[in-house]
Amino acid sequence: MSAPVLATSFLQSESFIYVLYIIAFALFIQGLRGLSGPTTAVRGNRIAAVGMAIAVVATLLNPGESNWGLIVMGVGLGVAVGVSAARQVKMTAMPQMVALFNGVGGGAVALISWVEFRSHGSTYGSHPIEVGGFVVHVGGPPAYVAIFSVFAAIVGSISFWGSNIAFGKLQEILPGRPITLGRAQQLVNLLLLTLAVAAGVALVAGTHSELLFIGMLIVAALLGNAVVLPIGGADMPVVISLLNAFTGLSAAATGMALNNPALIVAGMIVGASGSILTNLMAVAMNRSIPAIVAGGFGGGGAVQGASGAGAHDGTVRSTSAADAAIQLAYASRVVVVPGYGMAVAQAQHAVRELTKELEDRGVEVSYAIHPVAGRMPGHMNVLLAEADVPYDQLKEMDDANPEFARTDVSLVIGANDVTNPAAKNTPSSPIYGMPILEVADSRSVIVIKRSMNPGFAGIENELYFDPKTSMLFGDAKSAVSEITAELSAL
Ligand code: TAP
Repeated sequence: MSAPVLATSFLQSESFIYVLYIIAFALFIQGLRGLSGPTTAVRGNRIAAVGMAIAVVATLLNPGESNWGLIVMGVGLGVAVGVSAARQVKMTAMPQMVALFNGVGGGAVALISWVEFRSHGSTYGSHPIEVGGFVVHVGGPPAYVAIFSVFAAIVGSISFWGSNIAFGKLQEILPGRPITLGRAQQLVNLLLLTLAVAAGVALVAGTHSELLFIGMLIVAALLGNAVVLPIGGADMPVVISLLNAFTGLSAAATGMALNNPALIVAGMIVGASGSILTNLMAVAMNRSIPAIVAGGFGGGGAVQGASGAGAHDGTVRSTSAADAAIQLAYASRVVVVPGYGMAVAQAQHAVRELTKELEDRGVEVSYAIHPVAGRMPGHMNVLLAEADVPYDQLKEMDDANPEFARTDVSLVIGANDVTNPAAKNTPSSPIYGMPILEVADSRSVIVIKRSMNPGFAGIENELYFDPKTSMLFGDAKSAVSEITAELSAL
């Protein structure tokens, strides 16, 4: 055998391909470890990307691969769209970007299952028989291949369509408010689920109909739409994370059907991490996952006296940048509480400038981070890390709360719900029970936002009527820069 032939057969050998897969898995896990902290997150992402590249190469080394033209075209298209989209996306648009990418994953899984059905479908349902002590499957793949393929098709299709609706709501292409069929909604969902499962069972049992397979994909698509449309736009990050877990599970099921260990491991990692993340977000918002899926909250509409200062008995004290600068300059301890508005205004660099100025004057500064401040997990941490805020100044909610009592000024920048005392004091409030940052415990509070409009939950914030609170109305970036300018002039 010549050297090139030997080399090719070594590269395409099952053992070499499996070694590559194992290296890829090790890199995925190492990458995930990196994502646990902002300082190592970028490196973690790169490590996982290298792992994915190795897994792709290992898959392409399989001797069966022949459609090189199509493969090169697919990779080229994916790289062109993925790289330009990732470079252009704004931080605040990240949840919808994740929804799109997740949807593409679910759609790919559903299509692969369809292709699998076309090549094996007519033999689904063939039974294993025992010949001379060995189990032989006559005329078709083992039953588990059919089961996993059908499962992947249903879940992948739900995930694709559900993610597209989530994208549409966050991008404001679709209305953010819940779109429901009223009382019939749960019944319709149950009916669609039953139909999809019944079609899947019939296919696995040996009904050799491609039309039935396509019908099953369509019913699952309707179910994906029916489940996500009734959920308010603002609950979408949690829904996206849930759909992400679904896509992971469906990819793992496809891996079982195709006997591809890379898909199984990567799918299970996505499934497990998506489930954990969904649960963490739901707990931090004090919402149960079934309640989120049932919909009807965070639809973007105004709720309960959200209209403005006039709707409240109390009075609101407004302040100026000059007065805020004096208050901050004479404080010995300041806690910055960032929220979604800081992200919208991209005020993180201006905030860092302000806190540097305060530190130069000997003021002790820290940042209190609520786990669901902003619109995605770690939103504030990412922005503040981008502005080079020292990591040890970021305090998690549980560490920050006991410190407010010895804080002179809490500077709330575009945060609303995560500071709302109604979560503790008003049992009828939709956010009742959500843990909050207890800024009202500090000696004084300055809130920067543009108006008296509510935040994500659509409710009025009692904090704004507290006598120790003063409101600095304006865009977060301009207002913070004005304070810094006033401070430098003092
Ligand atoms: P929100 O309660 O949404 O309040 C943000 C505030 O920022 C608004 O009241 C808005 O008031 C202000 N704002 C907007 N643009 C601004 C700008 N350019 N300059 C200054 N202020 C601006 O934000 P939060 O306190 O961060 O709470 C997050 C909410 O999102 C929670 O209810 C949470 O449950 C929910 N949520 C979070 C997540 C994750 S994972 N983070 C996922 C789903 C839902 P004005 O319009 O008056 O300026």
